Amino acid sequence: MATDQIRSGRLEGGRPAAVEQYLSSMEADKQIASSDIRVDIAHILMLRKQNLIDAESAKKLLKALMGYLESGLPADAFNVTREDIHAGIEAQLMADAGSDAGGRMHLGRSRNDEVATCLRMRTRELLIETLSGLFEVRQALISRAEEHTNTIMPGFTHLQHAQPTTLAHYLLAYESLFARDTSRLFDAYSRVNISPLGSAAFAGTGFPLDRKLTAEYLGFTDPMDNSMDAVANRDFIAESLSDLAILMVNISRMCEELILWSTSFVRFVNLNDAYCSTSSIMPQKKNPDTLEIMRAKSAAVIGELTAALTLIKSLPMSYNRDLQDLNPHLWNAFAQTNASLPILAEIISTAEFNVPVMKKQAAAGNTTATELADFMVREYNIPFRTAHNIVGRAVKLGSLELDVVETAAKELANISLKEKGLTEETIKKVLHPATILREKKSFGSPNPKMMKKAVKVADIRLVQDQVTGDILQDQLRDADEKMKTAYRNLINDSE
Ligand code: ARG
Repeated sequence: MATDQIRSGRLEGGRPAAVEQYLSSMEADKQIASSDIRVDIAHILMLRKQNLIDAESAKKLLKALMGYLESGLPADAFNVTREDIHAGIEAQLMADAGSDAGGRMHLGRSRNDEVATCLRMRTRELLIETLSGLFEVRQALISRAEEHTNTIMPGFTHLQHAQPTTLAHYLLAYESLFARDTSRLFDAYSRVNISPLGSAAFAGTGFPLDRKLTAEYLGFTDPMDNSMDAVANRDFIAESLSDLAILMVNISRMCEELILWSTSFVRFVNLNDAYCSTSSIMPQKKNPDTLEIMRAKSAAVIGELTAALTLIKSLPMSYNRDLQDLNPHLWNAFAQTNASLPILAEIISTAEFNVPVMKKQAAAGNTTATELADFMVREYNIPFRTAHNIVGRAVKLGSLELDVVETAAKELANISLKEKGLTEETIKKVLHPATILREKKSFGSPNPKMMKKAVKVADIRLVQDQVTGDILQDQLRDADEKMKTAYRNLINDSE
């Protein structure tokens, strides 16, 4: 068993291997290994600037850490006999830079503020990945919507034919959901991107740390202003997980929709073979498995959120080891979500929409009935509810033909629509889905002209979001550059 540099003062003896493994977060900590090296570098640079470590020790430690950053950590740093990656790297440094220098790194710091900092750094990276996946999905939806501003199809309520709409309207509805997911993630990012480092165990330290400097080197906007909150809170994880769960629920709805659309009784879409499987016994089958798996992944992400909230809810201030067990839930939720997004984008991009079937179905099930009622209001000044009942009765009687509508009007309201000038031709014209859509006037409706504009607006909104995403990435790159310059200056300093 390797000597544990943290335990050896206070505790006697070693621990059974099973207990060591039970307690170690090493496996999940692979996610934060690179963040932890950066945290160590920022901390040592700051200690040096504040004259809290001698130049020689700082240089030794920094050289070793830069080596890990560039060529990867030696396998031994991930030894599960260490409690976590923080202990693993510290042990590695003691081996590589000597125990005197290695033993000076942890001054004014605790693993509590260290891990909270690493988690925020890795969450930032993963949020950026989620955002770029979302951009791909939104781009695919916008491009397909642009192709289909004139593709007429039925819209549904209660999964029953309801009113005619356009495919663009449908696709942009989902794009709007994903645009809000984007905005939620940007919002989460701003609350993730603050630094706990320098809070020590929870109560700060008597050493004059420069928390603003470490925050700056690590790309955070500010140090967190309460050191107890800084180490104890994980609402940034609950928030990120909530946003991912909402996003996956939105994705799941879209999967469900496409699965339904691909059935032989709907036939609105033919999915690319690459995203389908066949049956081992039924040779005719083309199953939308990728969408089914994606729909299922949303369950896992909701589960991770539930686990996280349940874990956090019973924790008193400040740090409790339970928090370590929270992290795998976060990593898994990001892994499932970030793997889903680019695949969904490809499924949308390669889907063949069955325009003739959509068109044929657009008027099925009397989807145009509302329009006939609206027409009676506009042309004959009949109250909407009366018109609604007349048309409803005509549907019940069997059709929207003139004689049937006339009978319904007489029965229900003692009105003769024929006398008012209603003809078979007018009804046909009024009930034509293309005319109905062209006549839609309210903002946000599926009028093809409005859809063309909506495509442009969605496109501009997407470009703006992409620029915001680029800025976030630039900020991280600039901070890293600043830290590396500080490193080079220190190494080249002959002091
Ligand atoms: N592995 C721990 C975690 O992930 C790091 C913090 C350990 N702190 C402690 N007081 N034991 O939460």
